[in-house]
Amino acid sequence: MNKRLDINLGARSYPIFIGPGLLREPDLLRPYVRGKQVMVVSNTTVAPLYLEPLRAGLVGLQVAERILPDGEIYKERNTWHGIFDALLAERYARDCTLIALGGGVVGDITGFAAACYQRGVAFIQVPTTLLAQVDSSVGGKTGINHPAGKNMIGAFHQPVAVIADTDTLSTLPERELAAGLAEVVKYGLIRDPAFFNWLEAHADALQNRDAAALIEAIERSCQNKADVVEADERELGQRALLNLGHTFGHAIEAGLGYGDWLHGEAVAAGMVMAAELSRQLGWLDAAAVPRIRSLLERFGLPVAPPPGLGSERMLELMAVDKKVQAGALRLVLLKGIGSALVTGDVSAEQIIASIDASRKTF
Ligand code: NAD
Ligand code: GLY
Repeated sequence: MNKRLDINLGARSYPIFIGPGLLREPDLLRPYVRGKQVMVVSNTTVAPLYLEPLRAGLVGLQVAERILPDGEIYKERNTWHGIFDALLAERYARDCTLIALGGGVVGDITGFAAACYQRGVAFIQVPTTLLAQVDSSVGGKTGINHPAGKNMIGAFHQPVAVIADTDTLSTLPERELAAGLAEVVKYGLIRDPAFFNWLEAHADALQNRDAAALIEAIERSCQNKADVVEADERELGQRALLNLGHTFGHAIEAGLGYGDWLHGEAVAAGMVMAAELSRQLGWLDAAAVPRIRSLLERFGLPVAPPPGLGSERMLELMAVDKKVQAGALRLVLLKGIGSALVTGDVSAEQIIASIDASRKTF
């Protein structure tokens, strides 16, 4: 059942391994460890579950472990700086390897520490959430939050390998699984209509954590992400399409205070608003919007902003999102299921109308 995909970025190319039991295959990890010094970074939730099997793959090496507190609020400079303190205390050299064992928070902090320690060292992503397995561990975006904004400090730094052990998903809370499925749906919507159809046919299997369905969904998601990143590693163009629903979603997250809704939940509602707006502009046929809503609802995801967050307030919050360029709000919208574009040519009234339309129940 194990799969291997390759992301082709010249000297920065790397494999993505996907399958059950990969953490228990020490021979898989070892070829990607550079040097003799390894630091595993994880958190207080994931380490007790999955650090032990990973250790078995590191016998004979100098291994340090850095266990972070769990939560998005710790994706910040003190936690990140603490990794350097530990690396320096242990006299880790430039040829060391960092391993990120956890979800997107651990992956982003560890990757950014690897990007900066001694001007850049190797790191391996071992993602343990669905969101991290389909999105954040692939593509080299690393970083931390600043009080003024999410992911505002960071670097592009590709891992040397991604090892996605799908058995780890068995312990993932239901809401976290659904949040990852929102990002999976995103790939179908922006560039892969056949994958969207497949998701509609396999929604129940995915919801029930059917192993084969999850592996196929992760593989197809990673292939889509790899294609996009290979074409536009530094987000000068089409990589921005991966942000479908994110500008609306960030407004929900910021409006509620980060941590109330999960990122994937906010993105799900955001994708419905983007679809509504696309329909109003005449780009998306009317039947597509209920199809998108219905698939997200089957995964238990929200499809509209919370009632307490007004549409005008949403618009204000969207205007401070980082995808605003030279004052104009730029949005990812749909031309059909499986086709997306970025546009700045949308009025405030149209955005508000699309937010209002998403709130209507059918
Ligand atoms: P997360 O890392 O906070 O993990 C979610 C929760 O699940 C945490 O409590 C975590 O400890 C727990 N957990 C992780 N694996 C588990 C397991 N196997 N069993 C039980 N519990 C487990 O959140 P996430 O959704 O994985 O990632 C969100 C982060 O990813 C955000 O900071 C976001 O900005 C970032 N992100 C980055 C990129 C990128 O390209 N770098 C893309 C998307 C999102
Ligand atoms: N999650 C968006 C990206 O990797 O570009």
